[in-house]
Amino acid sequence: MPSPAPAGLLLLLAALAVDRAALGARVTALGDDAAVPGDDWLFDNSVKETSFQGGHAENIMDDKETCEFKKSHGLDHMDRYRVEADFLKRATQDPLWRMLVPQYLREEQHGGRPFFVMRSLTCGIDHPVIADLKLGTQSWKPAFHGRPGADDAKRAKMDKLDRASTTPQLGVRATAIQIPPGLSDWPGDSAPSDPGAYQLGGRAAVKKGLVSGDAAWTGGSTVEEFEMLLKAYLPTTALRMEFLEKLAPFIETFSSQKTYRFTGLSLFVWYDARAAGSEEPKLGMAMIDFPHTLGSTREEYGELDSGVLKGLTSLRDIVTSKDAVEG
Ligand SMILES: Nc1ncnc2c1ncn2[C@@H]1O[C@H](COP(=O)(O)OP(=O)(O)O)[C@@H](O)[C@H]1O
Ligand SMILES: [Mg+2]
Repeated sequence: MPSPAPAGLLLLLAALAVDRAALGARVTALGDDAAVPGDDWLFDNSVKETSFQGGHAENIMDDKETCEFKKSHGLDHMDRYRVEADFLKRATQDPLWRMLVPQYLREEQHGGRPFFVMRSLTCGIDHPVIADLKLGTQSWKPAFHGRPGADDAKRAKMDKLDRASTTPQLGVRATAIQIPPGLSDWPGDSAPSDPGAYQLGGRAAVKKGLVSGDAAWTGGSTVEEFEMLLKAYLPTTALRMEFLEKLAPFIETFSSQKTYRFTGLSLFVWYDARAAGSEEPKLGMAMIDFPHTLGSTREEYGELDSGVLKGLTSLRDIVTSKDAVEG
């Protein structure tokens, strides 16, 4: 089946788009559901598709020299900007959360808009292999302390979209996953460094029309397909063990925290292509994308975020079962 040869071109386009908007910063990150018109689902943002990452390319800057990643929102969505920036700032100072999120650094103005500056998660890794997994069993915001959530029309629309994915059953869906080729095509104990050697999987691939015929499973739209995707992303026992180890503190936190309720939250996962096939692969994960967060330390949400918790435990169970079967 064909690999996404235009990856390099798409990344170049993204870089150009961001450069114009973002004063020379470069973009290298791959994949996001906001990259995908129609999968920016929930929130009716206007989306310009420029690349794997592209949806909100004009809202992000990845500064390789300083290892900083900057994010903003459109001027018409500054309320979302404020929620996201405030959450991340507080989370960075909170011992319960700070290991689970990118570190918040400061705020800057660019082109008349505020950007919050975070530590780049993948900085220093020349060839990160990434997965963006959207957590939660529903994609619409509930009411909160008298403030209304999504209206009926939006709920119906989101529920329909969710039913076409693993969101209701698993509490997680594949937004964008970089699928490496089979292990026999890896150069030694590293994964390929050429992005063109990877297939795009998840909803981003569905929206790009890449999932017909033999590639149908790469959409990850059913439970079986999602399991296949996750296993293709983590093809060795060592990678799966590392994934489970890094996942554990997220499950622990979400098993008890009642402060926040997230909508559209992503678990962003990456591993270093270098030595990815060895006994000691380097893998990391963090939560990103918080513009629809409800609750705060002053006004707690008051319940477990059962949707996110379900997604996290589904991930654990799927990745565990792979090794239980294969030993
Ligand atoms: N701190 C970070 N370090 C590195 N990459 C990041 C960071 N935050 C976000 N990204 C990348 O940018 C993409 C878009 O960020 P996200 O917060 O999901 O914004 P959007 O609102 O556009 O979905 C993510 O999918 C990921 O690839
Ligand atoms: Mg996102």
